[in-house]
Amino acid sequence: MREKILEIWPEIEWIKNKELKEKVINCWIYAVENSVLSAEDLKVIPFSLLIKDCNITFMTHKRTAVQLAVEMANVMKKNFGDQIKIDMDILTAGAILIDVGKLLEYEIKDNKLTTSEAGKLVRHPFSGLAIADRFSVPPEVQHIIATHSKEGDFGKRTVESIIVHHADFVSFDPFKA
Ligand SMILES: [Fe+2]
Repeated sequence: MREKILEIWPEIEWIKNKELKEKVINCWIYAVENSVLSAEDLKVIPFSLLIKDCNITFMTHKRTAVQLAVEMANVMKKNFGDQIKIDMDILTAGAILIDVGKLLEYEIKDNKLTTSEAGKLVRHPFSGLAIADRFSVPPEVQHIIATHSKEGDFGKRTVESIIVHHADFVSFDPFKA
């Protein structure tokens, strides 16, 4: 399973801290093992069940958000210098984990992939947080998972979370009806 996770998520190798990297891998292994979906399915299923005729896959959307977040952070660090502090490992780990809880939101009903009742009640920012906590993912990364979506609009996001939130939405909003 570890190899499968690293195969769908090459960006995991960008995390320099070995301990953090292992935690991220373990979260994804746990999510896939407890999901109706396999790692291979993630390269095929559309990234949103809400968009009609969506041809962009879950992994393409997720990997784009991670790549955008890292690019954005690099430009900001280059141009703002020591006026801004961005922890690249925290940012990358967070961006890779924001939708890990989504794996638990799905169910297959009448041969169709849908969102389960439990998934509607406990959306993936919450289920993702529960998975992250299970593997002792640090609070700075848990914060990104918890606040990446609309649920995070009510509080204050860290700089890493602001970047990941926007990277996620720019790779989603243009495809919304
Ligand atoms: Fe999300």
